[in-house]
Amino acid sequence: MDAEHPIDDHPSCHFTIRHEGEESHLWLSGLWGSPHVELEREVPDGAIVEFACPHCRETLEASILCPSCEAPLLALRLTGGGAASICSRRGCPEHLLDLEGTTDLKNHLDSLTASGRPPGKPTLVLCAGTAGQASGANDVLRVAKRYILENGLHDRIELRITGCQGFCEMDPFVVIEPGRNLYPKIGMDDVGRIIDAALEGNVVEDLLYREPGEEKLYENKEEIPFFRDQVRTILGRNEDLDPLRISDYFRQGGYSSLAAVIERNDPEWIVDEVVKAGLRGWPATTGTARGRPTWSATPMREIPALSWTAPSSRGTPTWS
Ligand code: FES
Repeated sequence: MDAEHPIDDHPSCHFTIRHEGEESHLWLSGLWGSPHVELEREVPDGAIVEFACPHCRETLEASILCPSCEAPLLALRLTGGGAASICSRRGCPEHLLDLEGTTDLKNHLDSLTASGRPPGKPTLVLCAGTAGQASGANDVLRVAKRYILENGLHDRIELRITGCQGFCEMDPFVVIEPGRNLYPKIGMDDVGRIIDAALEGNVVEDLLYREPGEEKLYENKEEIPFFRDQVRTILGRNEDLDPLRISDYFRQGGYSSLAAVIERNDPEWIVDEVVKAGLRGWPATTGTARGRPTWSATPMREIPALSWTAPSSRGTPTWS
């Protein structure tokens, strides 16, 4: 970390980078989710750079590829545990975070919740559920990413790829936030127009949704009769989540129960919470578990400490 080169009021992450035989310096914001970066020498959008240690100039090897653009993904160990990855392609916003080994989960969750996608920033939400992909959502995604990269728009618009939002017959469709404008059955040629309009706060009227046989345009997703007349529950928030971005899950409260459990470290409270939650056995078919709580009020510390040994063949498991 480079405290003498702060970005976002925090010490930045300092790297040496190599591009087309030239070596220069790069500083990334140390604030998770921040897109801010400073370069000693400009690198064109879409170019892939090699990262190296700024002190010993050893090349930092990348072992996996970016899920968005397939450039090498640089893995970084985090102080306090866990790992972060950043894409080596200039302009690709991909960040991955692995909290395995994190010693202070709650602090990580708090900082992730506070960072990430800035509220109000134009966002193109693309359904890439099964029907979406069958209808061309992956092609729409490729075109959108290319358009954003080629036009240097990565700081101005976000992409969020989601699971099925229920309106499969209108795939491939996108929703633009914050206006909630839904554009159904879009083609590749529509993508640039939609992004440009979103950046200007405008709407592409001729691409908006119409009910069959009607002239009325529906500007807002929630006004469309299909959505207006239903309340989505189990999958109701999946349009807010890109399943490849764990920070989206954090912002929806993901792992907050785990953080509370770790913070309180109180077995009686944990058991009490589980009992109060009324968790029950799988209902229709499992005999004695039917309709009855499957948890007993036994704090974890009273469970005998046994370790499991994998059975060498089918049959009775062995304990040691
Ligand atoms: S897969 Fe797109 S709405 Fe169902």
